[in-house]
Amino acid sequence: RPAQDVRPGRPAISVIAHRGASEDAPEHTLAAYRKAIEAGADALECDVRLTADGHLVCVHDRRVNRTSNGRGAVSALELADLAALDFGSWKDDLEAAGRAVDPTEEPDRQTDDPERTSVLTLERLLELVADADRRVELAIETKHPTRWAGQVEERLVELLARFGHTKPATGADWTPQVRVMSFSARSLHRVRAAAPDIPGVYLMQFLTPRHRDGRLPPGVGIAGPGVRILRAHPEYVAKAHRAGHQVHVWTVNDPSDVELCQELGVDAVITNRPKEVRSQLGLG
Ligand code: G3P
Ligand code: CA
Repeated sequence: RPAQDVRPGRPAISVIAHRGASEDAPEHTLAAYRKAIEAGADALECDVRLTADGHLVCVHDRRVNRTSNGRGAVSALELADLAALDFGSWKDDLEAAGRAVDPTEEPDRQTDDPERTSVLTLERLLELVADADRRVELAIETKHPTRWAGQVEERLVELLARFGHTKPATGADWTPQVRVMSFSARSLHRVRAAAPDIPGVYLMQFLTPRHRDGRLPPGVGIAGPGVRILRAHPEYVAKAHRAGHQVHVWTVNDPSDVELCQELGVDAVITNRPKEVRSQLGLG
């Protein structure tokens, strides 16, 4: 059905590419983020973790086992170890397994493309955003922040400052291009203490009694409920809006969930399929 603006006078729903255009390309690879930018995504979501030698890399799981041909925890590996792994072929293998593959057919592998197989550092992703031919935002999620007692946030703010994503002391005009998301209120608090002008998104898997009325931890501006919360508690969006918060929902892949988000007037959807979701919303 045609897209409808259920929030007259409000900006269009922002479409955030979850781990890049991760339905089309291996998650968290440069190829996935390039596809997301091509698809017209307003923002790119990525998860960050610290390597044993202190680099922030874009990897979702604690271990590299699912998304690479290696094994072990990111925190126990150095960047050079990760750089030697293949972070792309697992997706080709999964796709091949889901198809009836003709054994005489050449495998549709793109493993010789380093942008599809290499581990991505946050620094390289920030370069991609800086070089994009239009403004693209970043929504960075801190993973396992408690384990590192502040090091993830410290390194993150340092990198963001280097790329001009923290407010300049000069008081010049500045609009944030990066948000930091976390399931940990403490992690958001640490980022805010170091860089008070970077917006925080409080991610929620369940709606606990403490947040049911739309309130968030102190100083956090944006609510990040899982879409399951909206299915069970559609009234949550209006409550969060009344409390003064934007609502960014994850992970909205199913067309019926996109429709629900649109009807409820959320501010952003985080999706593996930015192109299709933009098209469903009448944005592209
Ligand atoms: O964008 C928030 C969402 O990514 C949180 O869940 O497990 O995909 O990081 P996860
Ligand atoms: Ca995430």
